Amino acid sequence: MKSNNKYQNISALGKYFRLSDNPPVFCHGDKEFLFDENNNKYIDLACGSGTTILGHNNQYINNNIKKKIDEGIIHTGPHFISSVHLKYFKELSIFFKKKFHIFNMATNGSEATETALKLSFHHTSKNKIIYFSGSYHGRTGYSLLSSGMKGINKKIFKNQKFIECKFNNFKDFKEKYEKHKSDLAAVIIEPIQATSGFNFSETKFLKSLYSLTKKNNSLLIFDEVWTGFGKTGFNFAYEYYGIIPDIIILGKSIGAGMPLGLVAFNKNINHYYQGAQSSTFQGNIISINSSYFFLKYLNKIKYLKKIKRIQTFLSNKKKYFKNFEFVKDFRGIGFMWGIEIDNSFFSDKDYTNKIRKILLEKGLITWECGKRSNVIGLIPPLCISNKSLNQSFDIIFDVFKEMKS
Ligand SMILES: Cc1ncc(COP(=O)(O)O)c(C=O)c1O
Repeated sequence: MKSNNKYQNISALGKYFRLSDNPPVFCHGDKEFLFDENNNKYIDLACGSGTTILGHNNQYINNNIKKKIDEGIIHTGPHFISSVHLKYFKELSIFFKKKFHIFNMATNGSEATETALKLSFHHTSKNKIIYFSGSYHGRTGYSLLSSGMKGINKKIFKNQKFIECKFNNFKDFKEKYEKHKSDLAAVIIEPIQATSGFNFSETKFLKSLYSLTKKNNSLLIFDEVWTGFGKTGFNFAYEYYGIIPDIIILGKSIGAGMPLGLVAFNKNINHYYQGAQSSTFQGNIISINSSYFFLKYLNKIKYLKKIKRIQTFLSNKKKYFKNFEFVKDFRGIGFMWGIEIDNSFFSDKDYTNKIRKILLEKGLITWECGKRSNVIGLIPPLCISNKSLNQSFDIIFDVFKEMKS
């Protein structure tokens, strides 16, 4: 595919070429900016798909990673624990205000989802899972089976034990719940669906899932890989909804850019299945250390206040999108927002990505989301200046003014 150029050894199984055959090659970063090999500057409103929410080159995190490396211990494998793990779990349980006590480490969100589902099967001795249309939980076996958004893997991942219900549709859920409840291990849901374009669960709907799963001794799993650590303006989306699930899945920003996933639950869940979910790089010391200092940093900067500033800025922009016929909606919360484009307005069904390509060329990095890739995700890092926020929207509105059907 990419012959005779610098990209020729890169497989197309990934997404590097989604926007362009000649994507920028990033070389360094600082705060909200990334710089390519020609030193072109980009404002990063994708934050590494929602991971680097402190921005790039955060000295507090960097120095603590370097310090750990200098201590000469990078990884001990899944059979051994280090001093930083112990400190970390203590800090985590404080962060969770002691609502969750037991933590299982993973290397990313998909693996954490596998763990949560497997844990539900073991704990309940039941074998079915209910998930929702529009959900995304990862690209591995069980995580993909429980995702509505299977993308190109649609035909490969099917299993009758994974039952899809319509998102926010209680009637559909109740029908399928009644039919499968005797085998139902868990219901898995993203409280706010991110990959399908920032779709909010209705509180009433989540409350019904909560009470029915409780009644049935099935588990309620909140996948907060996206929404965790302040994205909603709350520490976790479960705080926003005021509903505490049985299991919470975390990933993305938890490692401050280092690969890490985590499953958190409380003592009532039977997790005494040695080795049911372990992997070589589980609990890598550098990732755990990075996450430990990430939590400390969030507390130090009183991060929820910082998010309020960004949320206010973004929600004030809502009215300006009304000037563009092809914009269906601009919605979000905290610092996770999306511009929904009406692709039918344009002749090209993938027009949203055409817009994102132009934005990229003008120096603005955005995130691809939406059921038909029709939402432009904006996730500004916490350190972003008002100047960069204003510049980002100047770029967006200038580009939008040029759009023609
Ligand atoms: C809600 C949610 N769960 C799970 C995952 C999978 O995480 P990862 O890509 O780290 O495997 C994602 C990734 O986008 C996600 O958004």
